[in-house]
Amino acid sequence: MQRNPSTTLSRRRRQVPWAVMALAALGTVAFAVPPTLSSDPAASRVPIDPDVAWHALTLTVHALPGGLALALGPLQFLTRLRARRPHVHRIVGRVYLGSVVVAAVVSLFAALYSLSGLSAQVAFALLTVLWLYTAYRGYTSIRHGQIKAHRIWMTRNYALTYSAVALRVFLLAGVVLKRNVAPDLPFDQIYTTSAWAAILVNLVVVEYVILRRVTMPPTVRERLRPAVGSTPVATPA
Ligand code: HEM
Repeated sequence: MQRNPSTTLSRRRRQVPWAVMALAALGTVAFAVPPTLSSDPAASRVPIDPDVAWHALTLTVHALPGGLALALGPLQFLTRLRARRPHVHRIVGRVYLGSVVVAAVVSLFAALYSLSGLSAQVAFALLTVLWLYTAYRGYTSIRHGQIKAHRIWMTRNYALTYSAVALRVFLLAGVVLKRNVAPDLPFDQIYTTSAWAAILVNLVVVEYVILRRVTMPPTVRERLRPAVGSTPVATPA
């Protein structure tokens, strides 16, 4: 079959952001999850309350399924995988949603026990509520056969999952700023600001992506659909 070069080019342009998103997700899992598996509280990247026996355990039980959801999410945006192997999309989707529910419920305890201060605790609690709500809407919409609504809610849900990546990127930027420009900046402020910024930036970006997709002319959307035999294409919503 003859391929239109401009269509191939626009597909390539969509594969690059997908690959960056997937690599950053895997990098965050590799960087953040292993320290929570250690039995030594000193290995933790967040302070552990010595008076709460369950504190370190809540981080482990939260980070393992959270990491799984973060790693699996990008697969669900591959249009051709969805079209050609719907059963794989369904199985991965169930594992993803199950992981989100476990990670989210446990993150309420992690937020409660957190020694990072009230503002960070409120940010994490809000994130948990939004994470569970979008997962619920994504699940119920597909059970009712509402495919468009399912894609939109699951895109929102993954953007919230992805705030784990944004948080670490902002933390890194804050630490670089502290080292090179503002040595007096307290780490607590960097942490709290990063937590809020991760949520807000990801929510704004995902609403922009959804709006752009929803308002895209049907002719353009058609052009972006994958041709049979082509490589997988990522579609966000
Ligand atoms: C999106 C919803 C999420 C919420 C509401 C949430 C909530 C929390 C909370 C409250 C803590 C404890 C922080 C503290 O004590 O200061 C925490 C830590 C942690 N979370 Fe999450 N989290 C979410 C997503 C994720 C995801 C997707 C991952 C996957 C990598 C993850 C991995 C971790 C890890 C590894 C820690 C331990 C501390 C660290 O290394 O930064 N979380 N999370």
